[in-house]
Amino acid sequence: MQIVHNTAELRHVIQTYKQAGKSIAFVPTMGNLHEGHLTLIDVAKEQADIVISSIFVNPMQFGENEDLDAYPRTLEADSKGLSARGCQILFAPSAAEVYPNGTQVETRVDVPSLVDHHCGASRPGHFVGVTTVVTKLFNMVQPDVAVFGEKDFQQLAVIRKMAHDLCMPIRIIGVPISRESNGLARSSRNGYLSVEEKNAASIIYQTLLKCKTSLENGNRDFDSLSKQAIDTLEAAGFKKDYFNIAHPSTLEPIAAHDRECVILAAVWSGTTRLIDNISVVLVNN
Ligand code: PAF
Repeated sequence: MQIVHNTAELRHVIQTYKQAGKSIAFVPTMGNLHEGHLTLIDVAKEQADIVISSIFVNPMQFGENEDLDAYPRTLEADSKGLSARGCQILFAPSAAEVYPNGTQVETRVDVPSLVDHHCGASRPGHFVGVTTVVTKLFNMVQPDVAVFGEKDFQQLAVIRKMAHDLCMPIRIIGVPISRESNGLARSSRNGYLSVEEKNAASIIYQTLLKCKTSLENGNRDFDSLSKQAIDTLEAAGFKKDYFNIAHPSTLEPIAAHDRECVILAAVWSGTTRLIDNISVVLVNN
């Protein structure tokens, strides 16, 4: 696997592949890779001739009191994992390479209609940081296909809309959530949890499943379903950020006539914020 740190070299390498008629799949990450990320590489390999991944801990998407400094940087282990899985190019730029004039860039990319709720409400400015960096990375890599995990459901919806609205000629592919054996959604932030906290966090997925079953059984009292779920999570020692039932494309609160929905949850285990989600088809009972 070739490791590239600057954009000029990246463009040169990619141009050679493009001239040879090769298609490019791109997997952007912030590193500290786990099996979930490596599954994205597997999917990317099925989609194109060449797989490029990036590792860049994007300062622009972290809030002032968030874990930017603590976020684990594990480039050596990550590059071994990517290479073993068949990634051909790793792009690992510095912050100065991505933001030569600092993160207070004048040009920002915003998808305002999708960021009012859920993580967007709890983390103001987060998605502008995501969409701005993903646009920059897309322009640097110019992939045919880009692959993202469905764990960050709102991020995926925002990126899909951004690519559509800005006529980006890139197919966006979502990959189902990779889970630990106890159901906990795999996340780089799980590394902050103790074994006991990890075990306890299985209740997040169990609570999502319980809510899904209630919806599938015809319960349409969305408010009380959310409240019950929050009560369960709080009783298990988690601090609520949100537990919302929403339309999967608009991300607006679910309406009585909707035929599909996504249940989105974010909770705090101590100082670690964990997110998860599950999709549900609503049939008439
Ligand atoms: O999901 C992530 O790891 C990041 O938000 C992304 C898409 C790589 C942008 O920094």
